[in-house]
Amino acid sequence: MKNLFILGSPRANGNSATMAKSVAEGILETPGNTIEYSHLNKLTVQPCQGCGGCNKTGECVINDDMQELYTKTRSADRLFLVSPIYFYSVTAQLKCYIDRCQAQWARKYLLNHHDTKTSRPTGYLLSCAATSGDKLFDGSILIVKCLFDTLNIHFGSPLLLRNLEKIDSLSKTPDKLAYCRKFGTELTKDL
Ligand SMILES: Cc1cc2nc3c(=O)[nH]c(=O)nc-3n(C[C@H](O)[C@H](O)[C@H](O)COP(=O)(O)O)c2cc1C
Repeated sequence: MKNLFILGSPRANGNSATMAKSVAEGILETPGNTIEYSHLNKLTVQPCQGCGGCNKTGECVINDDMQELYTKTRSADRLFLVSPIYFYSVTAQLKCYIDRCQAQWARKYLLNHHDTKTSRPTGYLLSCAATSGDKLFDGSILIVKCLFDTLNIHFGSPLLLRNLEKIDSLSKTPDKLAYCRKFGTELTKDL
């Protein structure tokens, strides 16, 4: 199965990237899985211009790295959106990716294009934050649920970690790392 991790933090080796790596380690315990990472901060994904260009064709008119991400996203069996909480939301990098999926929205709702995939992919939000409030992840969950609905992706139970602030907070916390790895191991049993 193809597992695609879309990484939204500007910190390439920060907590959310570490979450992704540990989850991937857990997934790789089951044979037949491949892992791919796309670091949005290293790519050029411009913000959606709301130009309506995709309304007629289902294709985004902006020619940047998102074009390759459309293909990768479509072919993934599992999609992981990985982002720290920035002001109770996902990072701007991830929000650009999400907004550019408006082209998929246009395909589905304006042009009646339907997926020919035999099995519906599952998507997961992996997120972390420095504080510990109850509603910390509510905004991001809502945003990602809305996206997965558009992409016809099943919303799998998210992995959410609180109290991680410094870049190495997670890598210095073995019990949380083990929890992430277990999350990866367990989700391969869902299908
Ligand atoms: C611009 C910015 C906004 C943030 N907003 C929040 C927030 O609203 N709530 C919170 O708990 N942490 C917030 N944080 C802290 C990060 O979520 C936290 O440090 C996280 O572990 C960073 O993950 P990373 O290492 O993958 O980048 C913010 C950090 C930055 C830089």
